Amino acid sequence: MKSDYSHTHAPDGTAVRADAVTKTYGKGDSRTVALKQTSFSTREGELHLVVGPSGCGKTTLLSVVAGTLAWDQGQIEVFGLTLNGLSQAEITTFRRQNIGFIFQQFNLIPTLTTVENVSVPLLLNGHPRAVAETRAVEMLKEVGLADKLTKRPSDLSGGQQQRVAIARALVHQPRLIICDEPTSALDSTTGHHIMDLLAGAARAPGRCVIIVTHDNRTYGFADRITEMEDGRVKHVYAGPELHTFIQSHR
Ligand SMILES: Nc1ncnc2c1ncn2[C@@H]1O[C@H](COP(=O)(O)OP(=O)(O)OP(=O)(O)O)[C@@H](O)[C@H]1O
Ligand SMILES: [Mg+2]
Repeated sequence: MKSDYSHTHAPDGTAVRADAVTKTYGKGDSRTVALKQTSFSTREGELHLVVGPSGCGKTTLLSVVAGTLAWDQGQIEVFGLTLNGLSQAEITTFRRQNIGFIFQQFNLIPTLTTVENVSVPLLLNGHPRAVAETRAVEMLKEVGLADKLTKRPSDLSGGQQQRVAIARALVHQPRLIICDEPTSALDSTTGHHIMDLLAGAARAPGRCVIIVTHDNRTYGFADRITEMEDGRVKHVYAGPELHTFIQSHR
């Protein structure tokens, strides 16, 4: 029988804990240490932004937390489950059941329509096609794409493709939503609407949203901001300090 990881829970409400995680790409001259004993944590009910200059390790951190990239050292725990001890197949099951991922490059399936792309997470979790497509259509309406249901990614603008990717990440109501630059291709009004959707998802009980962003228009939605630099966490802003950070980046 397939494992059910959808009810695991850390007793203290921690959603994600990465403890001294190291990740190195390549070997010899082309070796890059992308994460240097990086520690990061976020809580249930939280919308948590990760900021920092290009190349500082943000996408790498998101990828190891989502279990899509193997790391070298350190421990990762998501909703109380230690990912270190799991096989690749178990991590895949855990991810399908719990995580929605919006990739920096969208990663839509080019041969599928908008509705079919958004249905994928529901189909992978065993929902019948008719149910999956009905829910996909509802989600696409929420992101303002009701008139693009049968289009393929190549027929959509960058911002529209990004909204399909957002709908796909949200459609199965995952407990953890991980977003890499979700508003980069969106105009202000659409970006604000998407951040409202993500904030609503984050604040539902037992759920959490982590967003990597360069977009200072998103900062006001944050409960916490982690600033990275050169593979390490430089500072975590919360409370009054967070307010000052947001004010100084307007
Ligand atoms: N597949 C890869 N192979 C080799 N090096 C990589 C790979 N992916 C990332 N890197 C390197 O690891 C470091 C961190 O990359 P990462 O993509 O995590 O940065 P980032 O903070 O997401 O940057 P950006 O804001 O530009 O998206 C960079 O120096 C990058 O060149
Ligand atoms: Mg990146």
